[in-house]
Amino acid sequence: MLAEKVLELKKLKNAVILAHNYQLPEVKAVADFIGDSLNLSMEAAKTRADIIVFAGVLFMAETAAILNPDKKVLIPDPGAGCSLASSVDVEAVKQWREKHPNGVVVAYINTYADVKALADYVCTSANCLKIVEAIPRDRPVLFLPDKYLGMYIAARTGREIDIWEGECHVHAKITYPRILAKVMLYRDAEVLVHPECGCGTACLVELPKLGVQPRFLSTEGMVRYVKTSPAKRFIIATEVGIIDRLEKEAPGKEYIPAAEDAVCEYMKLTTLEKIYISLRDEVYRVTVPPEVAEKARRAIERMLEYA
Ligand code: 13P
Ligand code: SF4
Repeated sequence: MLAEKVLELKKLKNAVILAHNYQLPEVKAVADFIGDSLNLSMEAAKTRADIIVFAGVLFMAETAAILNPDKKVLIPDPGAGCSLASSVDVEAVKQWREKHPNGVVVAYINTYADVKALADYVCTSANCLKIVEAIPRDRPVLFLPDKYLGMYIAARTGREIDIWEGECHVHAKITYPRILAKVMLYRDAEVLVHPECGCGTACLVELPKLGVQPRFLSTEGMVRYVKTSPAKRFIIATEVGIIDRLEKEAPGKEYIPAAEDAVCEYMKLTTLEKIYISLRDEVYRVTVPPEVAEKARRAIERMLEYA
């Protein structure tokens, strides 16, 4: 069986498989660690393995490579991109920096290494509020690249922020009218929203008026939350790949996707077969030029301090 071969190879080569929550169930089944972007970075920072196979997308594997310059970081499909990460224009970020000598650039982890190298802080959905709140109020902030997450941070912190106009095409589909329709249908459900969603700020402002208190969580935050909540039903506003993990780790509850079509085709490029080939042939190696990695590492390490 392919899964067994993967496990054998992993042992033989002292490799570790890190998988994002949106990965296919058969991929998560062979992973040593499953998590959100923050947990995966933390895991990548402390692994003792010689090879890291990253079952996720390219910016995540790049982050692992930046944190482990001496290890072999592999991505099973080098086409696993990210619409959000691709939306950034490096020159425009440099221009903002020149215009705001006192400014602070906060880059969401969904960015490529050249953008992280221009940032003061990297953040994930799990620690973005903490990081922005810690920046002195008199310093201008540029948040990039996700406009919905940026708007959510501005609303929660009450702070004026320059926000990049990017979006994740998957989370952008999760609009307020769509989530509202589910809320009306399942009045007893708790509403868990990833702050990358198009409905983020509308949920924050409008749902409490209907007596619904949405929870804004990273994917791992959702896993933790459903385990402790007494609720039996949840509306899940994020990529649908998280749902099999919720069902596995907190069974006996009902998980209703806010949008059934919220599927990231980049995340689904990784299959068990590609993981096997990746381990067997040690492909495709992800590397970051040392001068870029050094600058990006500083911003990532600052993020890890807020983990
Ligand atoms: P988290 O898993 O960190 O919440 O991020 C979601 C995401 O879109 C990753 O691409
Ligand atoms: Fe990028 Fe969106 Fe896919 Fe996450 S879900 S990897 S943000 S395209």
